[in-house]
Amino acid sequence: MEERMISGELQDAEQDIELSLRPEWLKQYIGQDKTKENLRIFIEAAKMREEPLDHTLLFGPPGLGKTTLASIIANEMNVQFRTTAGPAIERAGDLAAILSSLEAGDVLFIDEIHRLPRSVEEILYPAMEDFCLDIVVGTGPSARSVRLDLPPFTLVGATTRAGLLSAPLRDRFGVHSRLDYYDAGALCEIVERTSEIFQIGIEKDAAVEVARRSRGTPRIANRLLKRVRDIAQVGGESVISNVTTQRALKMLQVDEEGLDHIDHKFLIAIIDQFKGGPVGLDTISATIGEESQTIEDVYEPFLLQTGFIQRTPRGRVVTPKAYSHFNREVPGS
Ligand code: ADE
Repeated sequence: MEERMISGELQDAEQDIELSLRPEWLKQYIGQDKTKENLRIFIEAAKMREEPLDHTLLFGPPGLGKTTLASIIANEMNVQFRTTAGPAIERAGDLAAILSSLEAGDVLFIDEIHRLPRSVEEILYPAMEDFCLDIVVGTGPSARSVRLDLPPFTLVGATTRAGLLSAPLRDRFGVHSRLDYYDAGALCEIVERTSEIFQIGIEKDAAVEVARRSRGTPRIANRLLKRVRDIAQVGGESVISNVTTQRALKMLQVDEEGLDHIDHKFLIAIIDQFKGGPVGLDTISATIGEESQTIEDVYEPFLLQTGFIQRTPRGRVVTPKAYSHFNREVPGS
């Protein structure tokens, strides 16, 4: 797959720098006000009762801060943060090992929880509900099930696809929080905060511009800012100017609406090769050479939200807004 400047997905080399940009406490976390307010109350109540926070499911597109919120929950609860991911847990025994190493109150974060194998998921049910682990010892006729107690803990699950979670798993989360794309104001604050961490100034309209073109996603805003900072520094600027920002964003092929060359490829393919749609996901995937799942998880949510495409029972359709974005005439108009 082509590397994408404005993908919300995290690339490996970014992990360390992302960690240092992450807010550690709720009061430092910008945006997602409803989620933050709810969590603040649930955390305070759990602390008053000296209980772990209820299991919490965070869902929404990549790059909006699900992992950050999970680690903030652990900090606010003053407990350890343990982290893993659905695809990393292949067998029931892998999860049993993680669960049995937890200490009282720990937050266990499972990213991409919709990708847990079903056999592993079943271990989670009694662990979440009764804090115990049912394991089978022995084989054949002498096999028997042994129940082990676990310390009380909080499972924080993150997923881009809440709809893919099985109902029994979804129902075992007491708190469900949906993260939405950030508005330009919140993103602008994030860009200014990150610039401060980078110890470089940024003109207000430059920060607004980065925010505006970041698809409502802090991870993208920070990634664009890093490249804009490179260009500003090489050009000898001590404060990132709007002129440099505009030039940098052009170099990075991020357009006025925050769309990049892959969005362009996607939309233009539907317009030119499928007469605007409807076209099925797999057909468009084969046409542009991007995986269906990546299209669905990463590219489409923003294009849907901003009204460039619509989903219909017969497939994807581009809207008049997409035609006008590319200065094309809407057919039949
Ligand atoms: N950096 C990335 N996401 C952030 C957020 N929501 N608040 C503050 N800083 C961030």
